[in-house]
Amino acid sequence: MRADSRIADHCERVFATAQDKLRRLVTSHPDYLPQYTRGGKWKHDGAPWTNWCQGFLPGQLWLLYLHSGDAFWRGKAERYCELIEARKDDRETHDLGFLFWHSWQRWHDLDGGARQRDVVIRAGQTMGLRYKEKGRYLSSFVAPESAFIDIMMNVGIMFYAARETDDAALYNCALQNCLTSRRYLVRGDGSAVHEGVFDLETGAFLRESTHQGWRHDSSWARGLSWAIYGFSTAYSFTRDPRFLQTACHCADYYILNTPAHGICPNDWREPNPDRPFEASAAAITSSGLQDLAGIVGDPLRARHYREYACRIMESLAAPAFLASDDREWEGLLKQAAYHERLGLGVDESTMFGDYFFLESAAKLLKLI
Ligand code: GLY
Repeated sequence: MRADSRIADHCERVFATAQDKLRRLVTSHPDYLPQYTRGGKWKHDGAPWTNWCQGFLPGQLWLLYLHSGDAFWRGKAERYCELIEARKDDRETHDLGFLFWHSWQRWHDLDGGARQRDVVIRAGQTMGLRYKEKGRYLSSFVAPESAFIDIMMNVGIMFYAARETDDAALYNCALQNCLTSRRYLVRGDGSAVHEGVFDLETGAFLRESTHQGWRHDSSWARGLSWAIYGFSTAYSFTRDPRFLQTACHCADYYILNTPAHGICPNDWREPNPDRPFEASAAAITSSGLQDLAGIVGDPLRARHYREYACRIMESLAAPAFLASDDREWEGLLKQAAYHERLGLGVDESTMFGDYFFLESAAKLLKLI
């Protein structure tokens, strides 16, 4: 079978499995917005750590609608979007891009509605309230002195809101956060720092830190995946070549440090980890690399990134990761981790892992 049709075949299986799993989820537990599975089940009383994943279920429902054209999925996607609308004013989270970009913005892309646009703009403006002038970063939910690499996935919504409302100040907050993240949260070798801690008085960068990696100075894989994807998005909005260069630098680190199958561990620097894989980071990277391939310009690099995205997809489509043959498993993508250090959702499915797996498949099938 030719590589293209083999990949398309894998992507169709990912969609078929997602349809099956999500139909069960939305009918067995209506209006429930889970974050990670426990023993393969979505409904449990495990701690949330923070509530950042609620946009990924409507996001998947929109992708199923795009794939099938079935009004059932559209109805569910709209319903689950409505459930999170009030969070556009949520000042407790730095994850408003995660919440609204894949859900309400997808809805707006489909319909062009003013209400959807306004909701996304409001979320982007709320995100901008996290900006710290001293230090020039958007603070994480953890503390005012904390900046996360994850926030690179949440600046796109600010650039969008700034563009739609012609708000130069908001644009500048997003831009400065990208520059600060590039300077302090991406190292010279292309690896990513999870968290930077700043002096609130002077704005000086104090130290590297992590919540989910092995050590403060190590290399948490999902953080790098967010950087690859997030700096690609920042470049798409700004056309600032520094962000494209950083996205490539991070992508090259991922590729150089990961075995040929393309599935990373939770942290590249951890010696002899208990579990070899963090599949969600691989899925995020597969999707982010496709964006990067589309903007990088150089055809050879574009091909390299696209082929690597396909390689990840081939690996993730195997039964060890894609839960197609496991009827009892309620998630889509196995061997992901929600929060390794806290022991939450480890070697499980996560809503973000499932979302980016499906999003990567949708991009490969040219649905989005
Ligand atoms: N909060 C983002 C992450 O866990 O990757």
